Amino acid sequence: MLRFNNCTLEARVVDITTLAVDAIVNAANTSLLGGGGVDGAIHRAAGKELLHECETLGGCATGDAKITGGYQLPARHVIHAVGPVWQGGRRGEADLLASCYQRALEVAHQAHCRSIAFPAISCGVYHFPADEAVQIAVGAVLETLPRTPKIEHVVFACFDEAMLARYGAKLKRRQAPPSKPV
Ligand code: AR6
Repeated sequence: MLRFNNCTLEARVVDITTLAVDAIVNAANTSLLGGGGVDGAIHRAAGKELLHECETLGGCATGDAKITGGYQLPARHVIHAVGPVWQGGRRGEADLLASCYQRALEVAHQAHCRSIAFPAISCGVYHFPADEAVQIAVGAVLETLPRTPKIEHVVFACFDEAMLARYGAKLKRRQAPPSKPV
C-alpha cells in the first residue's frame, strides 16, 4: 500500500470483475467489441448491454481509453483502454502503455470517479514483458495523479501472486522512508 498525495495505491490478487469501485479498466482491443482474457471476463459479467454501448463508440486508438456504464458489474463504469501489442519494444510500446494509464485516469476524473482498478494491461495475450509493464504502470499512475485529484484510491488488480509480487516491489520502492523519531 502506498500513500501519494490524497490517494492510496494498492495491489491485490483479485478478479477485477468483482470490485465495487467507481471504475474498472478493461484491457480492450481497438474494436472495443470484446475478446478473451480480462476483456472477455468483463463482458461476461457486465451482460450484453455493455457490448451494445461499446458498439456505439466507434472503436478506440491504441494508447487511448473510452468510458461506458458497468451494467451488471459492481463497478459503476468500465474504462476501456487499448494497450499495445508487444513487438520487441521499438515500436513505441512503452509510451503507448503509459498513455493507457494516463488516459484512463483522465477519463475517470472527468466522470467524477474516486476509485479505479486496473488490470495489468498488455501483459496477457499482448505479451508485454511483465516487469517493464508494471514499472510503466506505477510510474504513469504516479505521474498523472497530481492532475486527477478526485481519484482517491487506485487498485492494481493482479490475476496471480507472481504479478502481485511485481507490483508490491514497485510500490514499496516508491514509498518514502519512514521519518526518524526526534
Ligand atoms: N481480473 C484481473 N486480471 C485478469 C483477469 C481478471 N478477471 N483476467 C485476466 N487478467 P489480457 P492484454 C489478467 O490478455 O494482454 C483480449 O482478447 C491477465 O492475467 O486480458 O492487454 C482483448 O480483447 C493479464 O495479466 O489483456 C485484446 O484483444 C492481464 O489481465 C487482448 O486480449 C491482461 O491480459 C488484450 O490483451
